[in-house]
Amino acid sequence: MAFNWQRIMKIGCHRGCTLVYQRNLQLRPLTCQFQRRFGTEKRNSFFVTTPIYYVNAAPHMGHLYSSVIADATARHRNINGHDVTFSVGTDEHGLKIQQASKLHNLEPEVFVSQVSQMFKTMFDGFSIAYTDFIRTTEGRHKEVVQHIWSELMRQGFIYKGEYSGWYSVSDEAFLGEKDVLDKTDDQGNKFKVSAESGHPVTWLKEENYVFALSQFKDKLNAWLDKGVIYPKNFETDVRCYVNDLCDLSVSRSHSRLTWGIQVPGDPSQTVYVWLDALFNYLTVSGFPTKSQSVWPPDVQVIGKDILKFHAVYWPAFLMATGLEPPRKIFCHSHWRVDNTKMSKSLGNVVDPFALKNKYGGQADVLRYYLLREGVPHHDGNFNEKVAIEYVNADIVNTLGNLLQRCTATSLNPDQIYPRKYMDVYQSKFNTSDRETFENLEMLVETVNKHYDNLNFYLGIESIMSYLRWCNGLTQAHAPWKLKNSTNPSDIEYVKTVIHISLETLRVCGILLQPAIPAISDRLLSRLGIPAEKRTFELARKPYLNSPDFYPLGPNDGVLLKRLDVPNS
Ligand code: MSP
Repeated sequence: MAFNWQRIMKIGCHRGCTLVYQRNLQLRPLTCQFQRRFGTEKRNSFFVTTPIYYVNAAPHMGHLYSSVIADATARHRNINGHDVTFSVGTDEHGLKIQQASKLHNLEPEVFVSQVSQMFKTMFDGFSIAYTDFIRTTEGRHKEVVQHIWSELMRQGFIYKGEYSGWYSVSDEAFLGEKDVLDKTDDQGNKFKVSAESGHPVTWLKEENYVFALSQFKDKLNAWLDKGVIYPKNFETDVRCYVNDLCDLSVSRSHSRLTWGIQVPGDPSQTVYVWLDALFNYLTVSGFPTKSQSVWPPDVQVIGKDILKFHAVYWPAFLMATGLEPPRKIFCHSHWRVDNTKMSKSLGNVVDPFALKNKYGGQADVLRYYLLREGVPHHDGNFNEKVAIEYVNADIVNTLGNLLQRCTATSLNPDQIYPRKYMDVYQSKFNTSDRETFENLEMLVETVNKHYDNLNFYLGIESIMSYLRWCNGLTQAHAPWKLKNSTNPSDIEYVKTVIHISLETLRVCGILLQPAIPAISDRLLSRLGIPAEKRTFELARKPYLNSPDFYPLGPNDGVLLKRLDVPNS
């Protein structure tokens, strides 16, 4: 279908970009077939996504962060009995990638495959338990994008126009006059950059297709009213974008952008990389045949730099195609390094693999730190020394120490998980400690709630408080002083201290599984807890009721060897 370029009109947008276009905007209410197939009540499924990563360069810690948050969510839901779909992948089209492959003197197909593989290796190396890894260069995805495009055209939401305005290749974003700033380099040359990202922009004037984004203001506001943006502070930014909506260019001239999906029926145009990329989520859902059980995504994890694309363009595209928008967008802030923005040009990009190799090949070290220290609402500062000190303090000194003390053969020669003895429990432990111990069930509730909201840092902090309390209790009761006593009541006393510690460790180990799966597995295996008894539901109930003891598991219980703290 070649487009008719006649009868165009010029519309200035208040943001400063100009669209000259011909349009047919009798927008029809959507009655398309998708509505019937999608949006049916989901059963026990849970669909979580990460952004798909640009393959212009190797993965770094920022990419790992989005992935670890989504992975912890997927694991949490999985443990609690959901049927989880968890997608990750790589964003392989667009000018940015076209330029990067040229720079590396490689054909784009070869270049993107190499870098995509690096992301896959990172996911596998950091226990990212995805159920689908999507590449936007796959045939299944191209089919979905072309199908959606044709549908948007058919519905009259895409029309032909001429775009003039700024374009940031690094962000693959169209920008209005209000979105750019003047800058001067060291040689006194003036240039413009995106006000939001700081990346350079170039002036663009070309004929392309335009999506009627401005039609969706009310619908977007109604969707936002449901409280779909987490944390709440990011909603304000989204409302600003929505109140300032222009229509959006959704294709680029093929003469400039060859590396992408061709606009159906018009070989002179290539689909805009963000429209292409966003629909990856629909592709992984199995659209159009298999998605009804998983659509819409329950939570989409993204970083703050891509909020506008996910909280404005994406839901509007979906609304235009008659598909339900996501239930929740979870937006996280960024990691800075030693208080500086992480960037390749500054040479301070943190390579997750280098860290993993340096610290005993344990993926959980970095996973723990990112989830424990990363808060979604403001930027975090990564400092290697601080990170390692944190891990030593929490995992080695608190969690590991408690386990070692209570499972060491010197204190626990029979290698058992004993029951508690009510008489000594009542007489030797004060009310406050007994209450704390009996409130383990509430810890499960609290952590569950924090994890439901993807606030892993709050969940982990609650767990660590409990473990610190329990370490203190063990220290205060000093069971090792009685370890050689033959007095039955002393023996019961020692067993009761061990019981309280191991029960606390059992509950905390179960709750830590989403964050540090390998360390939790070693802990729970040492305690002798079988795989099928590691659900949050079972953590709520006391493990051992009737028999006097269970045997401990066979491993040595070393969760993590103390890490050498770097000098700075
Ligand atoms: N390809 C797009 C996303 C398309 S999704 C349909 C993209 N890719 S990206 O590789 O640049 O970034 C992916 C994710 O990494 C984003 O969520 C981004 O916020 C995150 N991070 C990149 N740098 C980061 C930090 N310094 N800190 C934390 N996360 C960061 O955008």
